[in-house]
Amino acid sequence: MSITVLLGAQWGDEGKGRITDALAAQAEVVARFNGGDNAGHSITIGAQVVRLHQVPSGIFRAGCLNIIGNGVVLNPRNLLKEMAEIEAAGVSVTPDRLRISENAHVILPGHIALDAAREATGGSAIGTTQRGIGFAYMDKASRTGLRAGQMCDPERFADKVHQHILAVNKTLERDYNRPTLDADALAAEYAAAARHIKPFLTNTVLTVNDALAQGKHVLAEGAQGVLLDIDHGTYPFVTSSSATVGGVCTGLGVPPKAIRRVVGVAKAFSTRVGGGPFVTELHGDMAARLRGTGANPWDEYGSTTGRPRRVGWLDAVALRYVARMNGMDELALTKLDILSGLDTLQIAVAYTHKGVKIDDLPQDSETLAECEPVYEELAGWREDVRSVRAFANLPRNAQTYIARIEELVGVRVSIVSVGPERDQMLVR
Ligand code: IMO
Ligand code: MG
Repeated sequence: MSITVLLGAQWGDEGKGRITDALAAQAEVVARFNGGDNAGHSITIGAQVVRLHQVPSGIFRAGCLNIIGNGVVLNPRNLLKEMAEIEAAGVSVTPDRLRISENAHVILPGHIALDAAREATGGSAIGTTQRGIGFAYMDKASRTGLRAGQMCDPERFADKVHQHILAVNKTLERDYNRPTLDADALAAEYAAAARHIKPFLTNTVLTVNDALAQGKHVLAEGAQGVLLDIDHGTYPFVTSSSATVGGVCTGLGVPPKAIRRVVGVAKAFSTRVGGGPFVTELHGDMAARLRGTGANPWDEYGSTTGRPRRVGWLDAVALRYVARMNGMDELALTKLDILSGLDTLQIAVAYTHKGVKIDDLPQDSETLAECEPVYEELAGWREDVRSVRAFANLPRNAQTYIARIEELVGVRVSIVSVGPERDQMLVR
């Protein structure tokens, strides 16, 4: 029995979807263990780009069972929309392909409205995806949330949704001076969604552990990135779930001993959406160059919100910290192709804080925001790498860049992606 874990090693959007899609070719089960529809995992299949937000990226591999685990928060409305999009792409989403944990908490309309309301009030905004993620996890932690299993009784579920909306409406009016939600209409909509989702609900702890007992290979697909983790990320500019390897055990209900391999996905540079410290952030021409124009889906614009992403050089200080904390065995390095044509590249190898050199990621976001990067400069390469399929055929300077990352982070780079297509990937 074995689990391979795939984690975002930066601030999300590392290209986890396509690496999951590639690793799913060898997996019988793909399971999401954290986050909700704040995730946006793009997979390019021929001329089609499909963006998955809640359904695991194994859905496009025939024979793969997909699981939404208990650590996830579920948006019923968007799940139905996503299922319809997957079906439009030619893959049917049936309970033999997708199982949803009865213990996953449900993102309710009030969570989304409150997220939007709080983000609109300047002071406490952190640039969330406004999917209600934080408020859904708040209700989970305060033991007032609704779990997906309650959708098994759609009428009772509708009653609870109704009560939830009436309570939230008071807060919306009183604290935020915002329009209230239509409790009757939403309760009816959620009851209808519950009827659709009911056949997919099960005790996924048993599903995953049975698969492991049968010697099947399970791929745990992380959402967000370790630096957005509620405990280990750049708090408060984080999401509300556990995006670390520890999140796999609680978010799926599996023993740590079942985890055999931990793969971190990192971009060959850095990006971040929303607020928060970003030591290697670039502005101006170089930022525009790395971000792209938005003309193609591979450019740096949020796949859930469409926001332009902040971009910067690779941060080896942060990456080393993340790799150590999660016991990463390998790194998958994405978007190497974007760096082609640059004269020089920078990697942050340390920081300085008020003139003092530091080698490890500070825990406090305010301190981190005051840090300056200490860069090491490497020579770039001119060649287009998009058609390269073997590491030895990469330009010499690209090989040196990767070797230096391995040395600084202390982890082997086992996969390099050189373009958005399924086959634009080299595995060492
Ligand atoms: P994937 O899985 C990038 C960021 C938001 C915001 C912060 C909190 O596609 O990598 P939230 O809506 O979660 O309360 O927002 O976290 N964020 C992501 N950034 N990729 C993601 O997911 C993200 N999910 C959340 O931009 O800064
Ligand atoms: Mg994304």
